[in-house]
Amino acid sequence: MAFSQVKPLFLALLILCMSILVSCHSRHFTPPIVTRLTDLFPHVSINNSFYKGFGVSNIQLTGNGFMATLSLDKASGSGLVSKNKYQYGFFSASIKLPSGLSPGVVVAFYLSNADVYPHNHDEIDIELLGHDKRNDWAFQTNIYANGSVSTGREEKFYLWFDPTEQHHQYSILWNSHHIVFLVDNIPVREFPRNSAFPSVYPLKPMSLYATIWDGSQWATHGGKYPVNYKYAPFVASFADMEMSGCISSNPTGSVCSKSNPSSLDPVDGQEFAKLSNQQVVAMDWARRKLMFYSYCKDLPRFKVLPPECK
Ligand SMILES: *[C@@H]1O[C@H](CO)[C@@H](O)[C@H](O)[C@H]1NC(C)=O
Ligand SMILES: *[C@@H]1O[C@H](CO)[C@@H](O)[C@H](O)[C@H]1NC(C)=O
Repeated sequence: MAFSQVKPLFLALLILCMSILVSCHSRHFTPPIVTRLTDLFPHVSINNSFYKGFGVSNIQLTGNGFMATLSLDKASGSGLVSKNKYQYGFFSASIKLPSGLSPGVVVAFYLSNADVYPHNHDEIDIELLGHDKRNDWAFQTNIYANGSVSTGREEKFYLWFDPTEQHHQYSILWNSHHIVFLVDNIPVREFPRNSAFPSVYPLKPMSLYATIWDGSQWATHGGKYPVNYKYAPFVASFADMEMSGCISSNPTGSVCSKSNPSSLDPVDGQEFAKLSNQQVVAMDWARRKLMFYSYCKDLPRFKVLPPECK
């Protein structure tokens, strides 16, 4: 090929690369329209429904007890824990993340029963991982079942908006059919219950947690960027908290009482058993555009992929 031909090709490639870089960096896409699951459930009072779990002096309740700010400073992070334990339900919070550089900071919204089952606990996690100059905030999901902590089932996404500018809704739907993670009502991950692998699905009652803490060791780019307390305090704002589930009166009981009308599971119905076509299309959109890590593709880590990865 003559030099005169190579040059235009090179230029075209350069322009292509630059436009890819620019579009990746801003990532401000318009999401598809989906059913607003968050409109189906009431907002709960944080003041009435949660205890201050840790970092009590870093927790401020506002908005008549319906909003909370949680902060992380050099002395402590902070966290709320639900008064009730739930077996299945819909859990959601509108969260505004700390502005400015926040490497190593983790804002988490998750279900866990590690307090009751230290050796075989379950967990359903949303973790927002702080950003540095190079990386945006990342949205990480994970699931542990019955103590499967040696097999992290993480998936990571970038968001299609700046999560530090305003509140956005982060939600978990958990019932006997599947677990769905949603961002502004767009499903980004579905984890179906598979009867062939019963031990990988969380089944025991869990508490709901909202926390902020120092994840310097791993959170941002595998721990490359620790928390820089020059930028502290890091403040996350929580609002529009939703927590509609089957309340388990017995924390170690495995079945939520169906005979007790006050503990009927609000996400047990057929409309929650599977994603609609519209939701499937939206989930494909999110995964295609924004997912940058899935444990099911991490062969170097697992050698043999977990059984549900197909
Ligand atoms: C929270 O509830 C307690 C009593 O249950 C009340 O004294 C307090 O004022 C409430 N705080 C807010 C911010 O609503
Ligand atoms: C969960 O773990 C416990 C204790 O390790 C074990 O006895 C039980 O069979 C496990 N349950 C499932 C569904 O794998």
